[in-house]
Amino acid sequence: MSDQAQARGVAGVVVLAAGAGTRMKSTKSKLLHQVAGRSMLSHAISAAEALTPQNLVVVVGHQREQVEEHLTEIAPHVVTAVQENQNGTGDAVRCGLAPIHDITGEVVVTYGDVPLLTGETLIDLVEAHRAHGDAVTLLTAELDEPHGYGRIVRDADGDQVAAIVEQKDTTPEQAEIREINAGIYVFEADVLREGLESLTTDNAQGELYLTDVVKFARNKGLSVHSMVLTDRWQTEGVNDRVQLSAMNKEYNRRLVEKAQRAGVTIVDPDTTWLHDTVDLAPDVTILPNTSLEGATSVASGATIGPDTTLVDVEVGEGATVIRTHGSLAVIGADASVGPFAYLRPGTELGTGGKIGTFVETKNAKIGAGAKVPHLSYAGDAEIGEGANIGAGTIFANYDGVTKSKTVIGKHSFVGSNTVLVAPVTVSDGAYVAAGSALTDLVGPGELAIARGRQRNIPGWVESRRAGTKTHRAAQEAGDNVEGSSEQ
Ligand code: UD1
Ligand code: CA
Repeated sequence: MSDQAQARGVAGVVVLAAGAGTRMKSTKSKLLHQVAGRSMLSHAISAAEALTPQNLVVVVGHQREQVEEHLTEIAPHVVTAVQENQNGTGDAVRCGLAPIHDITGEVVVTYGDVPLLTGETLIDLVEAHRAHGDAVTLLTAELDEPHGYGRIVRDADGDQVAAIVEQKDTTPEQAEIREINAGIYVFEADVLREGLESLTTDNAQGELYLTDVVKFARNKGLSVHSMVLTDRWQTEGVNDRVQLSAMNKEYNRRLVEKAQRAGVTIVDPDTTWLHDTVDLAPDVTILPNTSLEGATSVASGATIGPDTTLVDVEVGEGATVIRTHGSLAVIGADASVGPFAYLRPGTELGTGGKIGTFVETKNAKIGAGAKVPHLSYAGDAEIGEGANIGAGTIFANYDGVTKSKTVIGKHSFVGSNTVLVAPVTVSDGAYVAAGSALTDLVGPGELAIARGRQRNIPGWVESRRAGTKTHRAAQEAGDNVEGSSEQ
């Protein structure tokens, strides 16, 4: 890392992001489409920031309002430069240098749509640039199918790069070259500035090619080397949604492998999706079809899945979360959630607590060891430790105008199929009878029964349903039992 530390502090990074991204067929800028839960542009900015540049400029053009708005959210310190017409990469870098025109030292040029490129690779590239004393150093890759890319033409001895030739300008022999230009470079600022001034549109596409700065430097007797990257994914751009999904898959494969190597059991890497913002402790187990997103963290010994999506959820040690959708929730140590639970924002489940089957919670603080095991809605609730909420209990928190809170005291017991009409409080150590519609305070140690009393009408079947099977069954039963009920 000491070598890498030296590579920090380049004078500037220019990120090219003005292109149209037509093949995405999207009203959203290509750069805002996501890989592993972050925009492609955010990946580009992160990689650039690994170089701790004194200046970071993003060149915007197409859908620039969207891109600029996004940048103010994710990286407000970044400077933007506008390229009005997309006249080629050379023109784009000219625009990018405008706000930093008197810059000296190293300028790194990279693209906004190369999401797998890492900061480490950029650091290595700057290191290579310094080691060679280059005027220009470029990142290249050797591809089996190089069609479409600029080709690297080397000197006779193979050491330095003589020129980059764009696909449309290649001779048949040059088209055979498999080493391609990734479009990522380190330039000495003065060479870049002069080189850009020398560019012409005298080429097959009538564009200003940044790549021609290489020839310019060599004609001045300066040195240009390439750094060949074997990890081809890092040099690959995204142009359409097929490539976008392939990129997501590869990025995810890397995240999964990294987690596995750090001690996380991931049963099915193909159906486990992680964001790079997720924090997984060693000895976490992740079962198939699970997506962990945003600021989710999972502590040691917890098991997540199958069929679970957690967004910004904190899971405690040893907890179990099965077939659950959760967001902005906290699940305590050794707690159990699901199967088929829906944890909405503000859910906090205490140590050893339970949110069970077909249960929805929202803004609900559920104490240690408390249980909401079956078929319930708990919204705007505070449930004390050790309380038990019976099957089918509904916290009626909304009267059509305002939301109100329900408090259930510790070690209280709410019978099945109860409606708790908020605002209402059940004190510590109280009972609520099954089927209650509770509207009033229940004191400590009390049993509240808030429902109609049972009333039986003897002889009703005989007088209203005579001759039916039900009647015959009643007659048979009556022969055995005398006077089944009295009011
Ligand atoms: C460029 C290189 C080519 C290299 C390839 C790698 C040149 C002349 N060619 O190809 O050697 O193999 O990248 O992907 O540089 N952009 C702008 N403004 C423009 C043009 C492009 O901002 O006027 C941005 C695009 O948004 C994109 C990047 O620059 O992020 C590359 O543009 P693209 O058209 O994909 O690359 P090529 O010019 O075809
Ligand atoms: Ca182009």
